[in-house]
Amino acid sequence: MNQALTKNNLDTKSSKILVVDDEATNVRLLEKMLAAVGYEHVLSTQDPREVENMLRKDNSDLILLDINMPYMDGYQVMDHLNTLEDLDIPPILVLTAQGSKEYRQRALDGGARDYITKPFDMDELTSRVRNLLEVHLAQKMIKEQNKILDQKVEERTHQLQIAQDKLHDSRLQIVRRLGRAAEYRDNETGLHIIRMSKISALLGASAGLNEYECDLLLNASPMHDIGKIGIPDNVLLKPGKLTKEEFEVIQSHPQIGANILAEDESDLLKMAHDIALTHHEKWDGSGYPAGLKGEEIPLSGRIAALADVYDALTSRRPYKEPWPVEKAVEYIKENSGKHFDPSLVEKFLELLPEILKISSEFREPDVA
Ligand SMILES: [Fe+2]
Ligand SMILES: [Fe+2]
Repeated sequence: MNQALTKNNLDTKSSKILVVDDEATNVRLLEKMLAAVGYEHVLSTQDPREVENMLRKDNSDLILLDINMPYMDGYQVMDHLNTLEDLDIPPILVLTAQGSKEYRQRALDGGARDYITKPFDMDELTSRVRNLLEVHLAQKMIKEQNKILDQKVEERTHQLQIAQDKLHDSRLQIVRRLGRAAEYRDNETGLHIIRMSKISALLGASAGLNEYECDLLLNASPMHDIGKIGIPDNVLLKPGKLTKEEFEVIQSHPQIGANILAEDESDLLKMAHDIALTHHEKWDGSGYPAGLKGEEIPLSGRIAALADVYDALTSRRPYKEPWPVEKAVEYIKENSGKHFDPSLVEKFLELLPEILKISSEFREPDVA
């Protein structure tokens, strides 16, 4: 026990003590002895059946408990108190007749902390009462401090959670706005972004990603073309065929996107970065910008590539009519293992009915 705690902080004299003894003379004697050494709050009863109620009304810090009593003996009182899970039972000091070693042992086994023998000796009583109270008060204090600590931890955790939620929300906002900014630079529509991100999340789930990761895919994939912000209009919006040089400029958009999204620690922006950088890589290594092959390409990039191309093929663009689904599916199949991750193509084919649902739910409005 901490010395400072016992000496300075624990005022045992203001503790509440409950005396339980059927003999009035014993009760009075104990009250007197306790008062003589400064204990001011001593309650007493001669009826052991009252103990529970008295504790409930006014929880004590120590019980002095006689053994031989009518109605309930001291052991029964202890047994009963042990069944009360909602009550903080204070330490019990048993009052026993001298010489009854067996009784004392039984009392200790039954939950008593200590005992004093009758006739009472003032010094013995004082030191045993003080010892038990000091331990009890110290425990109480530690319990209260722990409670306060627990509350503080809970409060901080809650605040942290709020801060994290806010951060997550603001990151989502950034990501969505960036995605929208990219749309303005290109032929791609907001609906394309929604469809390809939903298809990406669907593919992610079937590829074994958990809910959190699928959510990241859903929110990160809309930024796949964010790098187009950095492509000059005369190249990006050129209606005719691109020259080799112009095509090279277009091919810089993954790296520009990656630069825009780099250096953020959040899972969301890290994934957005990976997708922006690798959504034009191809499974056979013939893609750009790095010519990554197979599983060198992050799964998120492989997924986004498939979702992006499928949706681009089946969408109307100023320079082309939408492809029929069968033709687009045929193209995807032909390019399995070339452009696309073959295991993802398999999943894609299994998921086709769900993908068609997404396409129709978010289809472009008919041009009048
Ligand atoms: Fe792109
Ligand atoms: Fe796209």
